[in-house]
Amino acid sequence: MLRAIDENTITDAAIEQMASTPNPRLKQIMEPLVRHLHAWAREADLTPEEWLEGIKFLTAVGQKCTAYRQEFILLSDTLGMSSLINSLHDKRATEAGTKSSLVGPFYRQDSPPMKLGDSIVTKPSKGLEVVLYGRVTDSTGKGVANASVEVWQPDETGNYDLQKHDPSEMDLRGHFHTDSDGRYYLRTVAPLGYMIPMDGPVGDMIRAQKRHGYRPAHIHFIVGAPGYREVVTALYLAGDEHVDSDTVFGVTESLVTNVNQKDPNAPIPNLPSIKFDFKLAHATAKDMTGRVGADPSQIVKAGA
Ligand code: BEZ
Ligand code: FE
Repeated sequence: MLRAIDENTITDAAIEQMASTPNPRLKQIMEPLVRHLHAWAREADLTPEEWLEGIKFLTAVGQKCTAYRQEFILLSDTLGMSSLINSLHDKRATEAGTKSSLVGPFYRQDSPPMKLGDSIVTKPSKGLEVVLYGRVTDSTGKGVANASVEVWQPDETGNYDLQKHDPSEMDLRGHFHTDSDGRYYLRTVAPLGYMIPMDGPVGDMIRAQKRHGYRPAHIHFIVGAPGYREVVTALYLAGDEHVDSDTVFGVTESLVTNVNQKDPNAPIPNLPSIKFDFKLAHATAKDMTGRVGADPSQIVKAGA
């Protein structure tokens, strides 16, 4: 039967036509997407010119993407979607663990394997040298031996070393394993915050919204061990002026820590310290990685 299509009936019409979707999860995702997209257009009373502007914007986002630049992820980050997806991922864990935070665009697999106590600083640096240490435990506080701890960060000027394409040669990244009690420790420099890439359409959006575009100073981690849920996270330095207004919403209270000038427990004496403990939840069969984002160096390798 022919139905009258208007600004309200169009939503059911679109959803009914998709009812034949054989993949149940795809159906479950697409139906609310259409419902909320239509509700948004009705609420904003969107005009054809505005919708075309939106389509132009999304086209520009796509055109900005390369093997080394993912503008759609940056859009997801700046709209709070990546952080929301991380929170939903954390909620699915059966035990409490360290909260997730954004992987960001500067993660590279194959960072150099290092020994506990090594420095990830491989170039001359004017930064404040610190010892970064802590434990990886299970949800009861028992140390997880030989857990994998990947770490990467910007330098004291807020820049990531991206000059070399081979991750094993990049500064300020390393791959460690915990000792028999779950401890890790390494030397690095205190990072500075930085502005997200602003030379694309996402930057135009940020400027149109009069947002500052900064991420507070942080250090990224991927921590995991067999039988545990991998956690992709970051620690954030208290005192950074943007710690409570991160442009990509990666900061949550439990991930904020201090640089401690006098720490009697630091494993390397006479250095300021940053201490951060990780708690890993046991994995369930359904667990998948929390890595929202891809490592461009792997994409390039695969396509080579
Ligand atoms: C970062 O942490 O490096 C980052 C995360 C999201 C967007 C841009 C940068
Ligand atoms: Fe980062």
